[in-house]
Amino acid sequence: MDINDLKKRILIYTGMDLNYYNPNMLRRRLKSLLAKKGMTTIDEYWAVIRKDYNELRRFLDYVTINVTQFYRDPKKFMYFKDSIMPVILHKEPLPQIWSCACSSGEEPYTLAIILEELLVDKSVRILATDIDSDAIRAASEGIYKPPALENVHDTMLHKYFTPKGESYKVKQVLRDRVDIKFFNLISDNYKVNFYDLIICRNVIIHFAREVKDSLFKNFNVSLKTGGFLFLGGSEKMLIPDKFGFKHWKYELYQKVANITEKSVIKKVNVGL
Ligand SMILES: C[S@@+](CC[C@H](N)C(=O)[O-])C[C@H]1O[C@@H](n2cnc3c(N)ncnc32)[C@H](O)[C@@H]1O
Repeated sequence: MDINDLKKRILIYTGMDLNYYNPNMLRRRLKSLLAKKGMTTIDEYWAVIRKDYNELRRFLDYVTINVTQFYRDPKKFMYFKDSIMPVILHKEPLPQIWSCACSSGEEPYTLAIILEELLVDKSVRILATDIDSDAIRAASEGIYKPPALENVHDTMLHKYFTPKGESYKVKQVLRDRVDIKFFNLISDNYKVNFYDLIICRNVIIHFAREVKDSLFKNFNVSLKTGGFLFLGGSEKMLIPDKFGFKHWKYELYQKVANITEKSVIKKVNVGL
């Protein structure tokens, strides 16, 4: 069996289509996983994961990679707080915010801290979504170990977290700001002309090139004109104009024009 056969089987078994992910990344990750397990062929690995659902879940988690942290890239979040949030908050009605590959919740809770610090009306909430059910569960629990919190200053730690053994649990004031749901960026329906901010960091990098382009188009359609897209450090949009965006600073882009291609979203305006 080769990697393409494995992808086909996983698609049949789980509905997850790994063809959308960067093939080199998949190959590297699979190779290192086999080495760790002392296996030499994909057949051996398939024999394990087809019988053991937990192992299959671990494999999918490994290839979709849910590493994250509070204030991942602190200086970018500081710029975002000081320069972009005021623009977003200036708008009427109250802004709609979507953290769309939120992993175990560190990113949307970072946004919640920022909203609290800026004294933003409590009705402004963050929709936090991910494809990984374990990550969604962890985000709902909101309990984090110290490494996830290393960019959170002590004063903030005491203000927004309660110690729980060696970990810290987000206080209700943050939990109340975040709605956590499942959403597959590849196959689910995007809301149209709805969001003022979409934060989608450190996931696009794992997708194949043509998937990246169609996601940028989907984000354009899903944002209101003037809304912002916040990408991860290695996810620069090379030609923002092509997708109706203007570059601000770092990986922050503002939607300045509508993309008109009909093919962008197949099923519109339902979804979340
Ligand atoms: C590296 S984490 C990024 C977490 C956070 N955005 C950050 O930058 O710290 C990538 C997340 O993307 C999620 N993901 C992968 N494929 C996805 C898809 N098709 N739809 C939605 N989320 C996906 C993974 O489950 C994982 O939680």
